[in-house]
Amino acid sequence: MTWRRGFYTLVQRVGELSGIPKRDIMLVRIAMPSEAKAIADVINAAFRQAESFFIERDRITVEQVQSLLSTGEFLVSDGGGAITGCVYVGMKGDRCYLGLLAVDPKVQKSGLGSKLMTAAEDHCRKAGSRFMDIQIVNLRKELPDFYHRRGYVETGTAPFTAGVNTRLPCHFVKMSKPLV
Ligand SMILES: CC(C)(COP(=O)(O)OP(=O)(O)OC[C@H]1O[C@@H](n2cnc3c(N)ncnc32)[C@H](O)[C@@H]1OP(=O)(O)O)[C@@H](O)C(=O)NCCC(=O)NCCS
Repeated sequence: MTWRRGFYTLVQRVGELSGIPKRDIMLVRIAMPSEAKAIADVINAAFRQAESFFIERDRITVEQVQSLLSTGEFLVSDGGGAITGCVYVGMKGDRCYLGLLAVDPKVQKSGLGSKLMTAAEDHCRKAGSRFMDIQIVNLRKELPDFYHRRGYVETGTAPFTAGVNTRLPCHFVKMSKPLV
């Protein structure tokens, strides 16, 4: 299957689509630059719900999404024309960074986050990456197990984003997974 910006790619192979009502089909594709606002909206909705206990701000601006679209790629899940989830991947040498995994709170816990992770890993593997790196905030107690179950292990820590005020002290936990 070919990955092209703006063109539908995977999640359900064609053979798996038969019998599924069209409204239930969720496709993952590479985002177009014109979708920066929709991507920022889904990221901010998801992170606000999950992180407002320690941080009170939007997670990202439209301008920051536009900048990331020029250095890497967003994969987005598209449910009938509306972006319901996204994940950012940026490749550097044989490593890839995955971040900003976000699913619209209205459709969480239906498998979409897992599908976006798998799609991002497949995409980076096919492009030659051998390792996937992520980082999570140490205050998010539910996230380590989510990523452990998907093959990630802790590799270290890093300071939280400089200049961002939080209600609680926090830092990043770095995690990685081999892709080959
Ligand atoms: C983290 C996040 C992306 C997960 O998205 P999601 O779509 O809910 O993820 P999934 O549905 O694939 O998986 C979530 C859990 O629900 C379970 N689940 C999946 N389908 C389910 C269903 N039909 N019914 C009940 N539970 C289900 C999954 O098994 C998974 O649990 P597991 O880790 O034990 O496998 C989402 O919670 C989110 O956007 N959070 C805010 C942003 C964030 O924190 N991002 C990560 C920062 S590092």
